[in-house]
Amino acid sequence: MSKECVLVTGGGSGIGMGLAEAFHARGATVMIAGRNRASLDAVALRCPGMMVADVDVSQPASVEALVACVADRLPGLNLLINNAGIQQVLDFAGETPPDIATISREIDTNLKGLIHVSAAFLPLLRRQPSARLVHIGSGLAYVPLAMAPVYSATKAAVHSFTMSLRYQLADTSVKVVEILPPVVDTALHRGLARTPPKAMPLPAFVAAAMKGLDAGDPEVVVGLAKVLKLAQRVAPRLFFGVVNKNSV
Ligand SMILES: NC(=O)c1ccc[n+]([C@@H]2O[C@H](COP(=O)([O-])OP(=O)(O)OC[C@H]3O[C@@H](n4cnc5c(N)ncnc54)[C@H](OP(=O)(O)O)[C@@H]3O)[C@@H](O)[C@H]2O)c1
Repeated sequence: MSKECVLVTGGGSGIGMGLAEAFHARGATVMIAGRNRASLDAVALRCPGMMVADVDVSQPASVEALVACVADRLPGLNLLINNAGIQQVLDFAGETPPDIATISREIDTNLKGLIHVSAAFLPLLRRQPSARLVHIGSGLAYVPLAMAPVYSATKAAVHSFTMSLRYQLADTSVKVVEILPPVVDTALHRGLARTPPKAMPLPAFVAAAMKGLDAGDPEVVVGLAKVLKLAQRVAPRLFFGVVNKNSV
């Protein structure tokens, strides 16, 4: 097997950081990319040899610059983890609904950003005899969280896009994988009054995600996200009520 050469977007914190550290710990060559150089540098300081790069995935020119940087510094890229994302609590029922800029920020990061990154890096990935393109989705793709309506919609769209991409690339060297996390204890939930109950600790999530990746699963559905996957098939209205009644 060729050496793992890994790029993680949004690798300066949370799930991206956890996965980057796990790959680094087992000897992979790893680059993390994001908007916040201080948090990227802090992760790299703990992981000798880890590379850092700047990117704002919501800006196409920034994504193109990252492709050039990776082609130069990590030309053997064979595992891209499309992880960068934001979550906003948005109230459309109030007197002032969210403005277009706020709504666009979430779509441009979670959906357009992910699609742009995938498209822009496919030529590099396809140079390798075997490569993986990993999308970080969400259990909320199955059952939306109403207080994060745009976020939930972007994750449902990511799930749909990932299925189509996997189908289109089936006869190529690139395997398309989606990881669907449950609620994980990270800074993603900073917009909420408190961390959601039943949040999975980050180390436990990373261990489960790495196990699924190593098993070669095309869909790595972790923890309570498995319940949501089943729920949307057997009792979607019931579980929509459950998820939204218990939300903070
Ligand atoms: N935590 C959960 O419960 C959960 C559940 C399901 C799915 N997920 C998904 O997991 C992924 C990682 O989230 P997390 O929970 O680890 O939260 P996080 O700690 O807030 O990580 C998100 C990362 O994305 C980066 N980022 C945000 N906007 C970016 C942009 N425009 N360009 C480049 N980087 C950007 C952030 O860095 P800066 O803000 O510093 O740029 C940060 O490092 C997201 O896709 C999220 O939707 C999380």
